[in-house]
Amino acid sequence: MRSTLAALSLAFAPLFAAHADTVVVTADRMLDVTNGRWVDKPQITIVDGRISAVATQGGMVEAGARRVDLPGVTLLPGLIDMHVHLTSDPQYGGYRGLEFTDNFWTVVGVANAKKTLEAGFTTVRNVGSSNYDDVALKQAIEQGQIVGPRIVPATYAIGATGGHCDTTEFPPSMNVPSPAVADGPQAIRATVRKLRKYGAEVIKFCGTGGVFSKTDAVGAQQYALDEMKALVDEAHMLGLKVAVHAHGTSGIKDAIRAGADTIEHASLADEEAFRLAKQHGTWFSMDIYNDDYILAEGEKNGTFKESLEKERMIGLKQRQTFQAAVKAGVKMVFGTDGGIYPNGDNAKQFVTMVQWGMTPLQAIQAATVNAAEALGRPDELGVIAAGSRGDLIGVTGDPLADVARLQAVSFVMKGGEVVRSTR
Ligand code: ARG
Repeated sequence: MRSTLAALSLAFAPLFAAHADTVVVTADRMLDVTNGRWVDKPQITIVDGRISAVATQGGMVEAGARRVDLPGVTLLPGLIDMHVHLTSDPQYGGYRGLEFTDNFWTVVGVANAKKTLEAGFTTVRNVGSSNYDDVALKQAIEQGQIVGPRIVPATYAIGATGGHCDTTEFPPSMNVPSPAVADGPQAIRATVRKLRKYGAEVIKFCGTGGVFSKTDAVGAQQYALDEMKALVDEAHMLGLKVAVHAHGTSGIKDAIRAGADTIEHASLADEEAFRLAKQHGTWFSMDIYNDDYILAEGEKNGTFKESLEKERMIGLKQRQTFQAAVKAGVKMVFGTDGGIYPNGDNAKQFVTMVQWGMTPLQAIQAATVNAAEALGRPDELGVIAAGSRGDLIGVTGDPLADVARLQAVSFVMKGGEVVRSTR
């Protein structure tokens, strides 16, 4: 017993002995995103990457603290994008991606991680990548090898044979490895276990067809209810949340019934789906900016013709569904599908969300408090409060009057470290 205690105190000694790194940030004002109130002249103290106090300027500043004074700046919590693919770049559409070696995409991810963080997104959920690239990015960021946001990695997206998450653009003789294609409850459970083993912190699966896949109909359901239930049950048992790619009506409803946590896209959700989502507390994560980009740039990017056709069918409809869902009171998080459009442009979606029925505050909440809650991390992300991570962004002007201000972030801090300060 004594030796255990001695070993323990030895193990923790460096923690107590180390000199704490303290930084004090001041600005003109701060938005309390929980209730939409302005706080004037804030003074935020961050110790070893976590906020220790939120006070008003003029209060005590610890001797030896670093100071970051931001006159003229409005502070908000670091933003959260719940749906990105850091290792994708839309300019290589259709078969163009085949010109590159596998690890090309890892390197693309390194560049996109930096762009995303500099755009004010201090946390992202990466819901689908190959080769466990998102785990590698997360590790490299945490080790200080590269610069990027906090990442919640899904690794591979799980899906049915021939579905949106399978590779359906090759003939049978070209047998492309598909480590997360699984059919039937048992195989699906085993795949969830495998992905968690190799670093998944959220499970993504394809419940219906999609736009950027050949051979499937966007609205078609691709996993049966019992398969979805097995997947969600296994993931939840392992403590992981579940994100479902679902455009189609029946697939959305079954995913909600199965207990999924977030519905990605949700394009063809109907009133019954809204009711079910409210009843189950399911979040919608709707990438409604994409349509503008895909229709403007898709052809030039080499996007498959059938994908562009599917986009024309679903783009406007998804925005109308978003508007109806907001009106119905469905809980919303901010998810853009970065990678389908250029990563780093994430904040462009705020304007679209306001055009389609949200108040600027609601759109900001979707990317802060709501996202943090949907991640299961409301105590450390999405707010500027004691105990939270020192993740802050700064803008000039009033984002509640003009949400486009969030596209011009002038200050970004992650875990108490300044990432960007352009003034
Ligand atoms: N990853 C999605 C899919 O392929 C993108 C959908 C983009 N279009 C849209 N209107 N949100 O299905």
